[in-house]
Amino acid sequence: MNVLVVGNGGREHALCSSIQESPQCEKLFCIPGSDAIASIAECHPVNINDNQAVVEFCKQRNITFVAVGPEFPLTNGLVDDLEINNIAAFGPDQKGAMLEKSKIYTKEICDEYDVPTGRYKKFDDFEEACEYCAAISFPAVIKADGLAAGKGVIIAQNQTEAEQAVFKCMKEEAFSDAGKEIIIEEFLEGEEVSLFSLVDASGFILPLTTAQDHKKINEGEKGLNTGGMGAYCPAPSISNDRLRALSNQFVAPIVKALQNRGIAFRGMFYAGIILTKHGPRLLEVNVRFGDPETQAILPRIRSDVLEILRAASIGKLNQIKEIEWDHRYCMTVVMSTKGYPEDYPRGTPMPNLDIINLSPDHYVFHAGTKKQNGNWVSNGGRVLAVSSLGETINKARDNVYSTIDQIEWKDGYYRKDIGYRYAK
Ligand code: GLY
Repeated sequence: MNVLVVGNGGREHALCSSIQESPQCEKLFCIPGSDAIASIAECHPVNINDNQAVVEFCKQRNITFVAVGPEFPLTNGLVDDLEINNIAAFGPDQKGAMLEKSKIYTKEICDEYDVPTGRYKKFDDFEEACEYCAAISFPAVIKADGLAAGKGVIIAQNQTEAEQAVFKCMKEEAFSDAGKEIIIEEFLEGEEVSLFSLVDASGFILPLTTAQDHKKINEGEKGLNTGGMGAYCPAPSISNDRLRALSNQFVAPIVKALQNRGIAFRGMFYAGIILTKHGPRLLEVNVRFGDPETQAILPRIRSDVLEILRAASIGKLNQIKEIEWDHRYCMTVVMSTKGYPEDYPRGTPMPNLDIINLSPDHYVFHAGTKKQNGNWVSNGGRVLAVSSLGETINKARDNVYSTIDQIEWKDGYYRKDIGYRYAK
């Protein structure tokens, strides 16, 4: 079959790398893709937020399966428009994508179905939100309701910071419409785990794996929030039994809640969970592969990834008897341009990317690069996601940093403590 991957980052580079290995993949396309992805998929500059343009592209290329990477096309109803045109797609429809689009929507489902989550209150009025800030204990978390590229969550240490965060969301409109409504939530303490489960429209749930990512820009979890500076898979503290138990506790009731509302969720159910001393609590739901978690998950899957994703999209997940995993850990470290997540230069040279020595268990996924006069240069904030497998988490970490050591990039930055909880 002809297959299309939608997106252009490190996650999509990893998806294309795995999908192109499938014997069922005759021709692989990626929109808009990137210069790096172009070495494994035919890339075209189609606007991924224009559903009709994507549908037309698929029809012209006889594409029968689409894997959608980023959240915006999902919340924009791309899967709905593809399916109307008989093109199978991995990802939820627009209604299912509400789980990621609106934190209030997901919180209200949690309330109704007794899914453990942090105590919260929602606001659409600035003064009321500020009055509430005067009455709560700190730290507290202020969250913009809508999509804010991972930036709409602010931890306030005191009333002044909380009011500033409310102002930023509701008056300054720093997150545009996403911050018109907010929630103010209790701060939950504990280890964070990302739980990935595949779901199909029949309601079949296949718990996939866990990962942990590092959101802060600086070592020791300090500084500004980013899209993610590194990840590893699986989370060492979560056994396979615990993975299934967490999936039963958090994924199953929400999928059921959606079914009761006439919504057949399918695709990736990515639950952000925090393991508090009072038990696990749901932090958020995303409806897609994580970035950079995907770059740590896919190198461990030995089964046919295209077959698995397609089964989820056509209601046949129950036919996937078992996913074959590489038993080793995989760790991903993100290299970003110095300055990210604030201002940073573009076009900085990465002179030896094509000639570094990469053995089979090491991967360099490109998140924000381009070729300029035949040479690789940076073209974004998060630029590379370097992944390595290793027998232990320590070994995975040694391997990934030894690949990074080979990369010449004087404007690059990376955290040296990815996996610090477990790697010594
Ligand atoms: N790594 C966080 C995310 O993909 O949302």
